[in-house]
Amino acid sequence: MTPVSKSNINAAAQRVLSQFSASGVQTSFHGRHINPQILADLNGNNWRLKDYEARGGYQALRKILAQGDSQSAGDTVAVGMTPDQVIAEVKASSLRGRGGAGFPTGLKWSFMPRQFPGQKYLVCNSDEGEPGTCKDRDIMQFNPHSVIEGMAIAAYAMGISVGYNYIHGEIFATYQRFEEALEEARAAGLLGNNILGSGFNFQLHASHGFGAYICGEETALLESLEGKKGQPRFKPPFPASFGLYGKPTTINNTETFAAVPWIIRNGGQAYLECGKPNNGGTKIYSVSGDVELPGNYEVPMGTPFSKLLELAGGVKNAKGGRTLKAVIPGGSSSPVLPASIMMDCTMDYDSIAKAGSMLGSGAVIVLDDSRCMVESLKRLSYFYMHESCGQCTPCREGTGWLWRVVDRIHNGMGRQSDLDLLNSVADNIQGRTICALGDAAAMPVRAMIKHFRHEFEAMIKPQIHQAAALQAAVPAATQA
Ligand SMILES: Cc1cc2nc3c(=O)[nH]c(=O)nc-3n(C[C@H](O)[C@H](O)[C@H](O)COP(=O)(O)O)c2cc1C
Ligand code: SF4
Repeated sequence: MTPVSKSNINAAAQRVLSQFSASGVQTSFHGRHINPQILADLNGNNWRLKDYEARGGYQALRKILAQGDSQSAGDTVAVGMTPDQVIAEVKASSLRGRGGAGFPTGLKWSFMPRQFPGQKYLVCNSDEGEPGTCKDRDIMQFNPHSVIEGMAIAAYAMGISVGYNYIHGEIFATYQRFEEALEEARAAGLLGNNILGSGFNFQLHASHGFGAYICGEETALLESLEGKKGQPRFKPPFPASFGLYGKPTTINNTETFAAVPWIIRNGGQAYLECGKPNNGGTKIYSVSGDVELPGNYEVPMGTPFSKLLELAGGVKNAKGGRTLKAVIPGGSSSPVLPASIMMDCTMDYDSIAKAGSMLGSGAVIVLDDSRCMVESLKRLSYFYMHESCGQCTPCREGTGWLWRVVDRIHNGMGRQSDLDLLNSVADNIQGRTICALGDAAAMPVRAMIKHFRHEFEAMIKPQIHQAAALQAAVPAATQA
């Protein structure tokens, strides 16, 4: 029997991981951002600590951890910031979580029971599996220290001494890059014990998943991080009270953490003013589909969608006559919106919600007038059926049911009752499952039928006619 050695284990791990590694497309270096904060001045090579510091990096961490007193208007005031002051600044910024739900970050941080006597954890959600979303991998690949600094600031604000960044397993090169950045930060005394001589301790580790979409759901992520099968937990209890290893835990998205250093350096009010009320700062949109220049675009919250489309080069082959038909504005889980509605929207949580969809993770999928909406829905439905973890019946059975019905419509076998059936199956999934994947599977179905019913009916009608013709052709005596 071959002895089990460390090198054997490493070789086996490399064999497994090589199946999952993808090089990562460079999507952020086109110089077409507007007032960028996270992607500012990046060129693909300047990701190291020295480059980040040259861009003002780690000034925010130094600012909050500064020691001693200083004179201000004759009074002696403490330099540095207290944890409460950091949280107040993040609240003032109106930063909302960039992972999908848009929950106010400062408020989430205030839920952490800081006085809890045992271990508390901070977790960064870099699982990024939402179809259309490709921003977090670029942040980690090309500006990893912004995430590390943001996490260190968050840990200080919540009194946390251990953190993990859970990175999508299929971007192994990015995981390795992040590990390198962690080493640099540790060597410079920016992570570890007694950071910058302040007495603050924060150990940060990277961890990689294996590519399951559901591991992006925060409680499934925690299960996976604990080494278990990545399946969502019932909530409540929420991670703030029962998180990693059952301890109080705060989870935020990669982009959320990367936004924090700018806020602390420039102030929450300045961040808020970059965007619009209740929607502070900038947002990175991953624009894909039928546009000339797909990529990541960082623009202020509240930028008109028409401007974002223009930055992305407009609808692909517009000169050849192609026009905008519809947009999925926030990743595959968000309801589709027709062009006429989308062109009146600004890109922020409130405007997109008012229009009947969600900003989600900011993955903007553009569909031109050549796209068949039945086929588009078929692809989406297949994805959710494939990614359902199978724990709850409405999602496990319902996602398969949705796909099968859309598939038969697409194959010309649709029945007149199928659209009502689709809506009814979606109704029986939405709001009846352990996690929001069920909702994510149901909402696109309802939106597609609401806005593009005529396309579904057009695919069904020939069959209705065919059935009627067959019926007429069969002699009455044989029809009993
Ligand atoms: C099925 C599913 C997949 C998710 N995938 C991700 C993901 O890849 N990245 C992410 O940050 N959040 C994802 N979320 C949202 C997380 O559960 C959580 O809300 C988020 O990480 C919180 O961070 P934020 O407050 O900074 O947005 C997902 C949610 C669901 C239901
Ligand atoms: S909704 Fe779907 S993915 Fe979420 S726990 Fe239930 S079966 Fe799993």
